[in-house]
Amino acid sequence: MKRPASRAKNGLAPRHIWALGGLTVLSVVVAASCDSQGSRQGYEPAQPIAYSHALHAGERQIDCQYCHFGAETSRHAGVLPASVCMNCHNQVLKDSPEVKKIAQAVDSGKPIEWVKVHRLADFVYFNHSRHVTAGVTCQTCHGPVETMVRVRQVETMSMGWCLNCHRNPSAQVPGGDALSPPSDCAACHQ
Ligand code: HEC
Ligand code: HEC
Ligand code: HEC
Ligand code: HEC
Ligand code: HEC
Repeated sequence: MKRPASRAKNGLAPRHIWALGGLTVLSVVVAASCDSQGSRQGYEPAQPIAYSHALHAGERQIDCQYCHFGAETSRHAGVLPASVCMNCHNQVLKDSPEVKKIAQAVDSGKPIEWVKVHRLADFVYFNHSRHVTAGVTCQTCHGPVETMVRVRQVETMSMGWCLNCHRNPSAQVPGGDALSPPSDCAACHQ
């Protein structure tokens, strides 16, 4: 089987440093993972406002990146500031109690405290932009978000899950044959 070429990336520790530091890094990594909550697959927390992707991204077909505009250009997809919700909700359903909570957040200057659904351990490096510009769809990693009333973590987001795609990207990514995602430890653990 063809192994994907590993690549040196800007600012990465050279391989020999990884090898020397490997034991220490690994024990830190293992200790850290014991403190983490394990797989969050299926995690579907309640949110402070009853915002629905099924309604906005599904029925109303608002583009994912209208609200998550960081996904294509930066490491984090991010969630838009509440003021962007008010572009529409200044008019739409402005008397709804749920919508009033958005207006309150904007007026008070306190951001809405959305509960994070997906969260990798701190010892993993993941970058949205590289994946999105390579043509990996949001749904490949997050499932059919446009059908969800409340967002749920669909995949395990474990190391095995990342590597499964990295070792054979053409199974999940159009044009994946031409891509060579890394499988060396230092690419994801810096
Ligand atoms: C492009 C316009 C648009 C944007 C931006 C938008 N919404 Fe909406 N939203 C709508 C429309 C249209 C409806 C009503 C759909 C219906 O009732 O058929 C709606 C409905 C809702 C409802 C349901 C309220 C109720 O009482 O039923 C909530 C809550 C809501 N939006 C929250 C948000 C939040 C939070 C944001 C920002 C993250 C946001 N919306 C951004 C257009 C928008
Ligand atoms: C109108 C704005 C809006 C649109 C359009 C939108 N989202 Fe979201 N998204 C939000 C808000 C607000 C949250 C935080 C609350 C929540 O989890 O429901 C969120 C949360 C998420 C999360 C969970 C983030 C976490 O905490 O891990 C994912 C994944 C996501 N969106 C993906 C998508 C995808 C994929 C699409 C397109 C199919 C999309 N979103 C369209 C506003 C939007
Ligand atoms: C290759 C897999 C992959 C793809 C493609 C992907 N995501 Fe993510 N997404 C993740 C992972 C992994 C996390 C958790 C990141 C972390 O905790 O550092 C995440 C987290 C998020 C979050 C939470 C905030 C953040 O940035 O950490 C949002 C919102 C989100 N993704 C939306 C999207 C949207 C919208 C798209 C498509 C434009 C998308 N994602 C494409 C894997 C992916
Ligand atoms: C569905 C396929 C798929 C999944 C799942 C996936 N990746 Fe990737 N990843 C890719 C592709 C394709 C590239 C190559 C992009 C390029 O060559 O521009 C890549 C590149 C990378 C890179 C090198 C580019 C950069 O951002 O520095 C890292 C690091 C990376 N992925 C980390 C992860 C991690 C961590 C996970 C799991 C949380 C993950 N990936 C899950 C397809 C995937
Ligand atoms: C494509 C990205 C990627 C590559 C390459 C990678 N890892 Fe991981 N690794 C992850 C992710 C994602 C996790 C799980 C993080 C979490 O649970 O949030 C992880 C977790 C771990 C853990 C913690 C124990 C566990 O299973 O949760 C260890 C130890 C580890 N990796 C070592 C390595 C070693 C050694 C290599 C090289 C042989 C390597 N990793 C290559 C992404 C990667």
